[in-house]
Amino acid sequence: MALYRTIADKLARQIQQGAFQPGQRLPSVRVLAQRMAVSVSTAVAAYQLLERRQLVAARQKSGFYVIPPAALPAPARAPGLRPARLQLSGRVAAVFANVREPSLTPFGLALPAPDYWPAAALRRAAGAVRRDAFSRSLAFTAAPGDFGLRRQIAMRMLQAGCLQSPEDVVVTNGCQEAVTLSLRLLTSPGDVVAVESPCYYGFLLALQSLNLRVVNIATDPLTGLDLGQLQRAAERWPIRACICSPGCSNPTGAGMDENARARLLALARRCDFHIVEDDILGELAHGETRPPALKARDSDDRVLYCSSFSKSVAPGIRIGWVAAGRHRQRLIELMTANSSAAAGFSQLLMREYLQSGHFDKHLARIRREYRGNLQMALATIGRCFPPGTRATSPRGGFLTWVELPRGLDAHTLYERALAEKISIVPGGVFARKGFQNCFRLSCALPWSSAVNAALERLGRLASRL
Ligand SMILES: Cc1ncc(COP(=O)(O)O)c(C=O)c1O
Repeated sequence: MALYRTIADKLARQIQQGAFQPGQRLPSVRVLAQRMAVSVSTAVAAYQLLERRQLVAARQKSGFYVIPPAALPAPARAPGLRPARLQLSGRVAAVFANVREPSLTPFGLALPAPDYWPAAALRRAAGAVRRDAFSRSLAFTAAPGDFGLRRQIAMRMLQAGCLQSPEDVVVTNGCQEAVTLSLRLLTSPGDVVAVESPCYYGFLLALQSLNLRVVNIATDPLTGLDLGQLQRAAERWPIRACICSPGCSNPTGAGMDENARARLLALARRCDFHIVEDDILGELAHGETRPPALKARDSDDRVLYCSSFSKSVAPGIRIGWVAAGRHRQRLIELMTANSSAAAGFSQLLMREYLQSGHFDKHLARIRREYRGNLQMALATIGRCFPPGTRATSPRGGFLTWVELPRGLDAHTLYERALAEKISIVPGGVFARKGFQNCFRLSCALPWSSAVNAALERLGRLASRL
């Protein structure tokens, strides 16, 4: 790679990590050239590249300054839909098979890239398991799961404001199983379940597999569920459960504020439905500390809290859990019927890793990185996508929800992007209907020049739709 690009990437990373704040002056061209031991023309070329990426701006006779990322307008809110059974199309399965193709720039994958796994600390934890508890790791560790791991999970949940004992926690194979078992526990086939729209595709798969009727609740891409519409739906139909991610939604990154969470819980009590809270992105809030989970306010086990370490540690470990409270025994039965238990080695690995105390350090790093990556992505979207494009700037996670101007078809963009070795997930995947001009963009990959260039290419493709 050309030297000036390497220098531009380094500076971009520092800007992204907050070493240089918006409005701050960057080192002069001469100082930069000296520090990096390059010629003045290379330093100038690096700054010019950052200028083209809209990360810095030149001021006459004064040097280069960091510019704040472009604030894009938020996408529109979607309407709700009446209850119906789902019939998800095979086209969606094809989308997910395609986005996993390793040769693509993976904007379509909502999973942390390997650079964001705490690989060295996990290797140490795996070494400790092999050394101290190898036979135990090969033994059958039945539901509710290893006590030491459940203790560590209960301690972590304190940071989300939830006072849970290890007895409340049932370990599952990832968050998908946690959500599916919770829904199965709360409902019978044909029951009505309210769901955010757009929502994580796995929710739709679970709802379809359980033969539930689904009522889509309009969801604001910034503030989450429309509580007025949820209330009207609950007054009109016998809603048994509502499945949502109040902390940070996949695909929009929306988060509900304290007041909205309190209202959601009050509504659930008044209309007597349960909530399946999927908090898989909760640990990735961009602030110093994470906001409390909805479960933190739950005094009557109305909320079944589901999560996993797939987004915050590594996706292949497959350790998730449900904080099930008084539903615990029934959940253990369902878990046993479904998959018997989570793998013993993974359980002990996660226990050891959490005990090591490394997790908070790791979270601080990836939160900072994801926030920076999103800033870079939004700046590029603002610059390279057709005028009128909107996108969310979430306060957590690594996903942004992009809305193209009306009439532009995101599925066509997805197909053309695949031909250019770039993946995205078109919006139609995340709901029964609509979102044809939207797509989800994941920023869980290190933001190099090549990645930024791929996003610029995607913008050019969108401009030619
Ligand atoms: C909101 C949400 N819930 C659940 C899952 C599934 O998690 P796991 O891989 O731990 O089963 C995902 C993964 O993409 C997700 O985004």
